[in-house]
Amino acid sequence: RTTRLADYRPFGWRVTEVHLTFRLAPGATRVLSRIRFAPLDHAPARMTLDGEGLTLISALIDGAPVSPDLTTDGLTVDVPPAPFLWEAEVEIAPEGNTALEGLYMSGGIYCTQCEAEGFRRITYYPDRPDVMAPFTVRIESDLPVLLSNGNPTGSGPGFAEWHDPWPKPSYLFALVAGNLVATSASFQTAEGRDVELNVWVRPGDEGRTGYALDSLIRSMRWDEDRFGRVYDLDVFNIVAVDDFNAGAMENKGLNIFNSKYVLASPETATDRDFEGIEAVVAHEYFHNWTGNRITCRDWFQLCLKEGLTVYRDQEFTSDMRSRAVKRIEDALLLRAAQFREDAGPLAHPPRPDTYVEINNFYTVTVYEKGAEVVRMLASVLGPETFATGLELYFARHDGHAATIEEFFACFQEVAGDTLDGFARWWTEAGTPRVTVSRHWDGETLTLSVRQETLGGPRWIPLAVGLLGPDGEEIAPTTLLTLKDTEAHWRYVPSTATWETCSAPNGQPKTDGAPLPSINRGFSAPVLLEAGMTDAERRLIFGHDTDPFNRWDAGRQLIRAGFIGLVTEDREPDPETLAAMGRAVRDDALDPAFRALVMGLPSDDDIAQTLAEAGRTPDPDLIETGRERLREAIAALLAGDLRRLYADLAPVGPYRPDADGAGRRALRCAALSCLSVVDGPDAARALYSQADNMTERLAALSVLLRLGAAEDALADFHARWSRTPDVLDKWFALQVGSVKGSRAVETALRLTRHPDFDWRRPNRVRSVLGTMLRHHAGFHSADGAGYKVAADWIVRLDPANPQLAAGLTSPFQTWRRYDGDRQGMMRDALERIASADGLSRDTSEMVGRILGG
Ligand code: ARG
Ligand code: ZN
Repeated sequence: RTTRLADYRPFGWRVTEVHLTFRLAPGATRVLSRIRFAPLDHAPARMTLDGEGLTLISALIDGAPVSPDLTTDGLTVDVPPAPFLWEAEVEIAPEGNTALEGLYMSGGIYCTQCEAEGFRRITYYPDRPDVMAPFTVRIESDLPVLLSNGNPTGSGPGFAEWHDPWPKPSYLFALVAGNLVATSASFQTAEGRDVELNVWVRPGDEGRTGYALDSLIRSMRWDEDRFGRVYDLDVFNIVAVDDFNAGAMENKGLNIFNSKYVLASPETATDRDFEGIEAVVAHEYFHNWTGNRITCRDWFQLCLKEGLTVYRDQEFTSDMRSRAVKRIEDALLLRAAQFREDAGPLAHPPRPDTYVEINNFYTVTVYEKGAEVVRMLASVLGPETFATGLELYFARHDGHAATIEEFFACFQEVAGDTLDGFARWWTEAGTPRVTVSRHWDGETLTLSVRQETLGGPRWIPLAVGLLGPDGEEIAPTTLLTLKDTEAHWRYVPSTATWETCSAPNGQPKTDGAPLPSINRGFSAPVLLEAGMTDAERRLIFGHDTDPFNRWDAGRQLIRAGFIGLVTEDREPDPETLAAMGRAVRDDALDPAFRALVMGLPSDDDIAQTLAEAGRTPDPDLIETGRERLREAIAALLAGDLRRLYADLAPVGPYRPDADGAGRRALRCAALSCLSVVDGPDAARALYSQADNMTERLAALSVLLRLGAAEDALADFHARWSRTPDVLDKWFALQVGSVKGSRAVETALRLTRHPDFDWRRPNRVRSVLGTMLRHHAGFHSADGAGYKVAADWIVRLDPANPQLAAGLTSPFQTWRRYDGDRQGMMRDALERIASADGLSRDTSEMVGRILGG
C-alpha cells in the first residue's frame, strides 16, 4: 500500500484532551486511555483509529460499552455527531518488543519510540502528526524513576503523573521508567523561567554525562541568542538507552537518546563522539521549536522539521567549533551519501510524494539535503530577510502542523518576490550538474553557467571570487544566483561587481586571465564542472581565501591521482603530492583543516566517480590503489610527518574542544600514514600511553591494518567488555581495518563472538553495518559479503524491521558493478524479497533498489 501526498485529508475530529494511565509490567502492560474528540464539519459517522499489535480489553463511548470493528491496523467505530469521550483499555507486551517501536524495554528500562508511527502500538489513536492535543499521563510502577512529557504534577509510592500543556502529536509522546540516576543542572531562560535539566543514565554511567549536559546548556543559550527561541517547560529530561534504532528522539520535554550520543569521558569517547554528542543534543533540543511547537502536517513534510533542524544544528556546531571544518565535514557527508542516493534507485526529493513505509524516508536526502535547501534559502535572501521570514514562520505557525509551502510562503512574503524556481529543490530529486566556462578577452572575464537539472531549472546560488596569477584575491566573494538553464556574468573591476551579460564572443585569450573560485563554501550542493587544469587547482589549493574551495581543490587533485593509479597504473603526479605536503606542513593553517587535507577519498567515492565516467569500478583495484597512494604519500612526506607527530604531542590533559581535536586528528593522520614506512612501533607506544580514546583507537586501527594488533585487541576487550558503547568500537574497528574479503570473514567470526547480540542495533551496526560499508569487503569477488548481508537481513527482519531495512541500503549501488557482481547482488536481493512474511520496511527497500 502506497501513501500519497495528493491524498491528504484532515482527520474528522479535534482531540481536545488525552489522558493516559500506564500499569507497567514487562509481559502485560495495561494502557488506559481517556480521549475527548470533537467533530469537525466534515466528520463522518464512523471514526477510524490506528492501532497495531494491541489487545483490546474494553472500549466505551461516553461511558457506554461499544464494540468497534477491529482490523490488523486499527479499529472503526460509530460515534456521536457531538463531542464525546472515548475510553479504552489495551494490553501490550513491552518485553517482547524487539522492533523498538512503541513501548519497549532496553536493559530493564521501559522506554518509547513513537516517531513516526509507534504510538499506535501503545493504544488506539489517530496516530498522525496533524492531530495535536495536550496530554496528561499517569504511570503506575514500583520502579524508582517514572518520566513522561511536560511537567511533573504529582507522585507517590508506585505512581507519578505528568502534564504536558503544549498540544502535540502522538509521535512526540514518551514514557520512561526504570532504575536511573540523573546528572542535573538548572537553567534560567531569557524569559526568567527556571528549568531543571536532567541527564538520566544507568547507575554506573553517571560519570559520563557531563558533556551532554554541558552541550544542552550551550544549546539552550545559543537558540535564545541566535534564533530567539526560548524553552517552555519547567523541566527538560534526557534519557540514555542502549537499544535504540535511531540516534535520538525529540519527545516533548523528554528526549530519549541512543546512549552512544550521551555517554562520554576522555577514556571512552573519541573526539568525533564528543562532536556527535554536542550536535545531537543540540539537534534534539532545537526540535522543541522546529518540530514540536511547529510540527509537520503529514510525513511527506518530514524535511520541514528535519532539514530546518539540521541546518540549525550545523550552525550551532559552526559557532562552537570551526565553521570551515564543519562545512567540509558536511559536504563530505552530502557528497558521499546524498549524491550517491540521488544517483541511484533510492533517489527521492527532500519532500517525497509517495511512500510505503515512512521509516524508510529518514534519509540523508530528507535530513542533509533538506538542510542544504534551507542554507541556500538563507543565502539567496541574505541574513536579515531570512531571519525575518523565520520569525514570521515561528509567529504564524506556532502550535500548528505546517507544510513546506507554508514555510516557504513566509519567506516569499518578506522577500516580496516570487522565488518559484527555488521551490523545486524540495520537490524534485537529483543532483544538478553545473558547468562553468570562462571567456577572457584580455580585459573582461565572462562566466557562462549552465545547469542540467531534472524537473526544470532551479535557483542555484554560486558564491564566486577571483584570484590573480599569484593566487592573490582580486575579487571578493559574490553570490551569483543562476535562475535559468543558462546565464552569463562579467566581472567589472572598476566597480568590483558582476553584471549579467549576453554570451561572449570573439577569440578568448589566456594571458593574464584571472582564475575564478566557484561555489565557495559549497554554496550549492551541485556537481560542478569548472574545466580547471591541475595547475589552476593547485593555485586555489595553495592560495584561495575560501577554506572550503582550498580543501576541495586539493581533494580533486588527489582524487585524480587515485583514479590514475586505479585505471592506468599511473604514479600520482609529484606536483600534487608536493602541494599536499605544503598544506600539511603549513603551521599557519588549522590542524583540523590539514587533517582533512590528508584524508583520501573513500573507495566508494572512487567507485562513484568511475561509474559517473561510464566505467566499471573494480573494488580490489581501488583498494590496492589506495595502498599505493598511501605509500607514495608516506615516502614523500615521512620527514614532515615525523616532525608533526612529535610537535603535536599533547601538552596538557585531554580536552574535547575543537582545537585539541584538530591537533589529535592531524597527529593521528600522520601516525597512520607514517606507519606505512615506519611499521607498528609508534602505534604500539601510543596505544599504551594514550590517556584518551581518540588516540587509543587511532593506534589500534593502525595496528590492525599492520596485522600487529593481537595484544592490543585483547587488552582493549579486557578493559571494556562491560561497557557496551566502547565494546561497539572494538567490534567495528576489527571489521573496518582489514582488507578485502577479510572484512567479511572478520564480520562473520564476530557475529559468533559471545559478546555479539543481534538484538542490539548498535552492535549489529558495528559488525554488519561496518562490513556493508567496507567497499572491497562487501564487494569481494566471491560474493561472500552479499551473502552474509542477505542472511542477516533475512534473520533480523522479523525481529526489527527498521534495522533490517537500513542494512539493505548499501545494495543501492549494485548497477555500478560488473555483470558477475550485479548478478550476485540481484540474487541476494531477490532472496531477501522472497523471505516469508518480509516486513513492509525491508520489502519496500528491496523493491525500490531492484526496480529503480
Ligand atoms: N526525529 C528524530 C531525529 O531526527 C529521528 C527519529 C527517527 N525515527 C525513525 N523512524 N527513523 O532526531
Ligand atoms: Zn531530527
